[in-house]
Amino acid sequence: MDNMLTIAGVSAETLAEKAGTPLIVYDESRITDRFAEFQRHFISEHFETRIVYASKAFLCGAMIKIVEETGAYLDVVSGGELHLAFRGGFTMERVYFHGNNKSKEELNMAFQHRIGAIVLDNAEECKAVIDLATEKRQKMKVFLRLNPCVEAHTHKYIITAHPGSKFGVDINGRPRIMNMINAVNSCEYVQFEGIHVHIGSQIFDKAAYVLTIQKLAEFMEDAEKNAGVKFDTLNLGGGFAAYYTQEDAPIPVKEACSAIIRTCEEEKSRRRLCLKRVIIEPGRSIVAEAGYTLYRIGFQKESAGTRYVFVDGGMADNIRPALYQAKYRCSIANRMNEPSDTKVTIAGKCCESADVLIEEAYLPEPASGDLLAVYSTGAYGYSMASNYNRLGRPGVVFVKDGKARLALRPETYEDIEKLETDQEL
Ligand code: LLP
Repeated sequence: MDNMLTIAGVSAETLAEKAGTPLIVYDESRITDRFAEFQRHFISEHFETRIVYASKAFLCGAMIKIVEETGAYLDVVSGGELHLAFRGGFTMERVYFHGNNKSKEELNMAFQHRIGAIVLDNAEECKAVIDLATEKRQKMKVFLRLNPCVEAHTHKYIITAHPGSKFGVDINGRPRIMNMINAVNSCEYVQFEGIHVHIGSQIFDKAAYVLTIQKLAEFMEDAEKNAGVKFDTLNLGGGFAAYYTQEDAPIPVKEACSAIIRTCEEEKSRRRLCLKRVIIEPGRSIVAEAGYTLYRIGFQKESAGTRYVFVDGGMADNIRPALYQAKYRCSIANRMNEPSDTKVTIAGKCCESADVLIEEAYLPEPASGDLLAVYSTGAYGYSMASNYNRLGRPGVVFVKDGKARLALRPETYEDIEKLETDQEL
């Protein structure tokens, strides 16, 4: 056992034997500890605070239960995520619905489930929500998503608040913003919950949050003074970085939270804002480090100086290296105490040159049948998984105090086949 990686008290080999590989394993306590850390540090005496889990990072029934138990809110961006939240028994008043192009059906679902709030991304959505609320004579709370035009320094695909972004309404476009505010305020059914922003993901820099809050505070002061519109809730989105490799130095939760809280308190008092509530929406930082992916090593090959080690999954279960050049670290789970002195490239089994999970890894001399553990795969791995090459999505296991339970079974050939049909349209 000594040489074997254990996750929350269960040997990685036991998990792989019971549930097959590739397998995504969550150490449940690391998720709940991270929630508790946010809840401990994201507090103020000057306003209420709220933590919303961004479910796009990873969602399934078991995860919904965990979020429900922590008392956190849930951010969804599609009918599918909304459906899962409902079916998973989540308290629907604690659901916020994001997204830049919600369909009529999805908006209807939001009303039907009486969710907490819809985050309005654009003027057309604003009109659609007002029309629906009026037609149904049903109340709905909304956030107005602004694009604060703050560039957080992260990969270009995951910054969301640069000028020209597809998300939110440009903070500098005041007439457009005022039109939306006036439209909402003149509808008796729709009520502003507050302003929303999300500046990007995997952000290492507190300064981007500080600058965003300052810009929003200025906006709120201006709206209060010059248009008589008071926003009492500020939702700052997610983006807190996770630790993947030694190149990463994520801001500790305590530090990130206190920088946000302090800046909000300062701005509230300096500009005499009626700020009553501040919200954050962490996704990645809640689940990334709690997740491991276990792969079985298959064949190996040397090609022009590169020593390839092939595993039984790859870009279908983790697109992040191919899409964002994301880096990960790994070990051979059954040989944890052996020196890691063999330089290899870990590649998946998909027909795609980009299917390289780890360009440069140092491992004990790998052998076919060894179990490879890749760390920090808990966020945006399973949730972005595909069936490329008709691979089945892996199983997902939650482990706590030495006990493991399968939360999502691995997809089978029957699952892959089940959508086949031959219907006349
Ligand atoms: N709130 C909103 C409105 C968001 O759009 C997002 C992420 C979050 C919260 C959560 O952000 P987090 O705390 O997880 O950084 N697929 C990419 C990440 C895309 C994030 C999209 N929005 C990746 O794998 O890196």
